[in-house]
This record gives sequence, C-alpha cells and structure tokens, in this order.
Amino acid sequence: MKHTVLTLQKMKEDGEKITMVTAYDYTTAAIASESGIDTILVGDSLGMTMLGYDDTLAVTMDDMIHHARAVTRGAGDTFVICDMPFMSYQASVYDAVTNAGRIMKESGANAVKIEGGANIYDSIAAIVDASIPVCGHIGMTPQSVNAMGGFKVQGKDIKKAQQLIEDARAFEDAGAFMVTLECVPSRLSEIITRELSIPTIGIGAGAGCDGQVLVYQDMLNMFPGHQAKFVKHFAEVGEEMRKGFKAYISEVKEGVFPSDEHSFKIDDEVIENLELGKIRK
Ligand code: KIV
Repeated sequence: MKHTVLTLQKMKEDGEKITMVTAYDYTTAAIASESGIDTILVGDSLGMTMLGYDDTLAVTMDDMIHHARAVTRGAGDTFVICDMPFMSYQASVYDAVTNAGRIMKESGANAVKIEGGANIYDSIAAIVDASIPVCGHIGMTPQSVNAMGGFKVQGKDIKKAQQLIEDARAFEDAGAFMVTLECVPSRLSEIITRELSIPTIGIGAGAGCDGQVLVYQDMLNMFPGHQAKFVKHFAEVGEEMRKGFKAYISEVKEGVFPSDEHSFKIDDEVIENLELGKIRK
C-alpha cells in the first residue's frame, strides 16, 4: 500500500510503528521497498555516505535532486522524503518555497525534510501552504554542526529541553506532517511524542518515538567511518561485499572466472574458417 501523510498519521493513532531507512540510489530504494519499509528518506547524509564529505554542508540542490530521482524510480509505492540541503531554505521564505517546489517537481519525492524549529516557522508554513508536505528535523541537526560545536546529544538541560519541545510544536503548528528527532534523550523524546499529534521518527532518540530511521550503510555495517552509539548492525553487508570482491579478484587472477558458464558460444565452423585464414581483409 502506498503511504500518504494521512496513513502515516493513522499509524501514530493506531500505535503502529513507522519504519524509515535512507536510500540514495535506485537499487537500494528497490530493495528497501520490496522489503516492506514504510518510508524512504533521501537524506543529505549522502554527503558523507555517497560523496565522502566530512559533513552535510557541501551538499547541493542538484546533488539531492540527482539522488532523489534515482530513489523515486526504484521506490515503487514507498513514500519518499527528500532532505532540503544546507542554505536551500535558511536565507528566506522565498528560497524555502522555491527550492522545496524544485525538489518536488524534479525528483518526484512525496515530501521534503528541513532542520530547525521555531526559528524557521514562516518558511515551514509557506512550504506547507504551497501544498508540499514537510517533515521537520530537530535535536542534533547536522547542518548546524558548526554552531552546535560538534555532533552531540541535544536537550539535556531544562532550557534546551524546553526549546526542543517548542521546536517540535513549531513544526506541528506550522503544518508539518511528521518530525524527526535526532540524538535526543529517550525520556525527552517520549514527552515530545506524547505532546505532538503528528508522528515522531527517532534516530538516537529511544524507543518512545512513533517510528525509527537509520542510515542504511550504518545499519548494514557498510560505512568505514565512525559509528554513533545509536547504530545497530542488522546485517554484515560490508563484510559480505569485501568477501565478494576478494573472491572475484582471486578468480580473475587465477583464470577461474569467467568459465564456459559465463561465456558466449560461436559455431565451430566460423572459428575453423577464421583459423584457415578466411578473415576478410
Ligand atoms: O540525512 C539524513 O540521513 C538524516 C537522518 C539521519 C535522519 O537526516
């Protein structure tokens, strides 16, 4: 079944957990979709996982659209959310609506995700007014890594916890259909989830959220970089890939691959004629 903002809302009401995973290409989106995932996020984490940057800041609108188009082609009926990259919505409401519209028109995604809260209320409301579903992202917001002084758990003191609750409410009041909570203490996430009527999706935010998201290279243990505390490895795909590449290398070096089974045949007569010097000059 194709999810919509309404069916995702109903999942919260019914207490059914929402599953989300990132994808950045056609093949991964197709596998995630066939596996029955509820939603796919084309995260700007692609800056690290696909492009090898240290953070998400250098990711462009063109990068996001390029990857999101591949994902929507593979995602079938799965609901796709595409991140708005750094500085595509922060400078003005005009930028926010124009760039959100570009993502929807050019990528085929079903919604956009933006980081922030009360500080970008007008932009959230304006994107929603343009009939574009918005997913918020609060807590540890990677596009603010420099302002936050690193990738750290957020909302640990009363003032910051209160601010996170206000940011979550700002998204809901401005019309967002969902909010992502990243690196938020579990008990604070529970309060935010209880206070909001829209679903919350956690990453490093405990079990009390309405759903969970993970970066697929993290959950499949493919990414060679630092692994956050909240990551669980659900499969050893990186190791399987290494095994596969090594087996391929040694079979090619030893002349085992390709065998007849993986080669094409030609009539003996054609070869005999060639060998007899009947090649046209
Ligand atoms: O960019 C991303 O992948 C994200 C998730 C980590 C929530 O925003």
